[in-house]
Amino acid sequence: MTDVQLIAGNWKMNGLNSAIAELDAMIAAPTSPAAGLLVCPPATLLAAFAERAKGSAVGIGAQDCHWEVSGAHTGDLSAEMLADAGATHIIVGHSERRADHGETDAIVRRKAEAVARAGLTAILCIGETLEQRDAGQTLEVIARQLEGSVPAIDRLVIAYEPVWAIGTGRTPTVEQVAEVHAAIAARMGGVQILYGGSVKPSNAAELLAVPHVGGALVGGASLKAADFLGIAAATALAGAQTAGAS
Ligand code: PGA
Repeated sequence: MTDVQLIAGNWKMNGLNSAIAELDAMIAAPTSPAAGLLVCPPATLLAAFAERAKGSAVGIGAQDCHWEVSGAHTGDLSAEMLADAGATHIIVGHSERRADHGETDAIVRRKAEAVARAGLTAILCIGETLEQRDAGQTLEVIARQLEGSVPAIDRLVIAYEPVWAIGTGRTPTVEQVAEVHAAIAARMGGVQILYGGSVKPSNAAELLAVPHVGGALVGGASLKAADFLGIAAATALAGAQTAGAS
């Protein structure tokens, strides 16, 4: 696993042109060498953000893609188009896509393959629902999602996002995060694994210090530069905590 933790912001369906001020603040801030920053704005802002972030330490990504290169798919965007607009990463299989658009593991796998075909890095999301956790099925669900949705591609990041922690303010305990991340690492070798779900400046250091946590996928708290940078700053603290613990 790389020493640089990836702090990825998923803006979801938020952000107008005026939000470029937040990106400017993220670009201008000195960031820890322990953190790589990535902002995934809505597709409407992708090209403008990529242009603005050129030459800076902030990468720009997309939130979803179609699996085909081009064709009769009204409203969809291919990985090649998103690469052309300046994306370096594409999130695939987010639980909101799985729930709102009926995306299955098989679809997510095709999307991840498309990301690789376009020469970009896929951030592939997996995670259990509250019902599944309460039924003691978490590790089984994770294993099934990994099996069904992860293709054999080089540039891959996994994001573990418990569905019940997304946008709720609830987070798993560090022990729960550690258990799932260890299980993913055991199956996936050296793949970078992000934790996602209600990450904020106040809990980031603790979550980022968990073994096999290689960064964070951040929704709500990525919209404001101050919060997002606060999370990025926690990577250094997390490193110090880990070093202190060993
Ligand atoms: P949240 O979203 O940080 O707002 O919980 C995380 C995500 O959905 O990636």
